[in-house]
Amino acid sequence: MNDRLSKRKIKRLLCDNKFDIKVLKSVNSTNTYLKQSALKGAAEGTVVIADSQTDGTGRFNRKFYSPKGTGIYMSILAKPSIPADKGVTITAAAAVAVAKAVEKLSQREVQIKWVNDLLIDKKKFCGILTSGSVNQKGYFDWVIIGIGANIYRPKEDFSSEIKDIATYVFHKKKRNLRNRLSAEIITAFFEILSSYEEKAFLDDYKKRSIAVNKEIEVLKNGKSLNAVALSIDDNCRLLVKYPDGEEEYLSSGEISIKLQ
Ligand code: BTN
Repeated sequence: MNDRLSKRKIKRLLCDNKFDIKVLKSVNSTNTYLKQSALKGAAEGTVVIADSQTDGTGRFNRKFYSPKGTGIYMSILAKPSIPADKGVTITAAAAVAVAKAVEKLSQREVQIKWVNDLLIDKKKFCGILTSGSVNQKGYFDWVIIGIGANIYRPKEDFSSEIKDIATYVFHKKKRNLRNRLSAEIITAFFEILSSYEEKAFLDDYKKRSIAVNKEIEVLKNGKSLNAVALSIDDNCRLLVKYPDGEEEYLSSGEISIKLQ
């Protein structure tokens, strides 16, 4: 079954001409590639998609396993007029876009582990890494949203390190699926961005979040702290309560959480 990535097919599936789509066979990292384009003035809606990455990167500088033929490794350039300290909400918007797109094509339920992990059956199939350039007023000039999704089982399977926590969406290859999914993700993301101020996507994000009301482990500054996740606020911060009763709002970047 042929499920090859194709710029022509993705463009045909997008209902808008404004997107500049680049499909690469292999690249070090689509985020790094797109950053070079952004620095040269690339327009909003420039999207780079690769069939494999040799240096795919996740949060905390971790490697993101990006084998060929089985995933979608995509970076989207956006120029939202929002303050950089609200940047985590862009990650949340992208998470909701991917969740909707995957659900639409797979009929499988997608949940979100705050802040940037997408899960099926409690295992991660997609991670999001957002980075940007901030101007003197503290607003984004541009943002790159990097999305890495395992669509099929990798030919060499996941490594023993991630085997128990990683998964993929489809058991069988489907014709044109990665092209359709790519187009759905791009469309859903820019649809959310067009009404970003209304923050409607936040309700969806909160509904899909598995951390709230659960005991979690907060990994912070090299320490592991027990806590209970209480809620997610409209800036996508996670409110947690520690055993001594102290409450704290967590933003991305400082922590990662582990469901116990
Ligand atoms: C994470 O799970 O920590 C985030 C993973 C983000 C991976 C994607 S794949 C496309 C883009 N290019 C990269 O090098 N990283 C992101």
